[in-house]
Amino acid sequence: MRNFGRIALFGAACLAGGSITSALMAHGNVTPQAVDTSALPEIGADWLQHNPYRGNATAANIGESAYGQNCARCHGLDAESGGIAPDLRYLEVGDTGDEWYIQRFQHGSSHDGKVYMPPMGEVLGQKAGWAIRAWLETKHQE
Ligand code: HEC
Repeated sequence: MRNFGRIALFGAACLAGGSITSALMAHGNVTPQAVDTSALPEIGADWLQHNPYRGNATAANIGESAYGQNCARCHGLDAESGGIAPDLRYLEVGDTGDEWYIQRFQHGSSHDGKVYMPPMGEVLGQKAGWAIRAWLETKHQE
């Protein structure tokens, strides 16, 4: 509160506001980006093993943008991998593929003391996870 008088000045407040905004934007590429899943049916807190949103077009739309913000930098734009991480278009579709997918989404992948993929479950939540999966299934390749 010592600096209250100073930051209350209009000009200083504008400057502070501007730098907070740019700090947040600078983080945009590295921190997981919250996904607005309020349009999707609630599915509870326990992690499901099979996609409750399979074939749901709203979920696929939300998933497409969530993927772009959180997965594309490693798995490639539009789900086409540039080689850094596996190409998710080839993931098995259906229930068996779901189990593998959600396990990776939730916990990520680490071995030999290195993080290959950060865990996404806690930060993004399972609604976002299943929405991304619903979109990925529309991109599936044999
Ligand atoms: C920092 C880079 C990075 C980010 C970000 C990332 N992944 Fe991954 N992901 C990887 C790597 C690397 C692997 C391979 C891990 C291994 O081989 O142990 C992987 C593996 C996977 C797999 C298993 C693929 C397979 O063929 O076995 C799935 C599913 C997956 N990621 C989904 C996602 C989703 C969904 C997101 C976004 C929410 C995401 N990943 C974000 C790097 C990333």
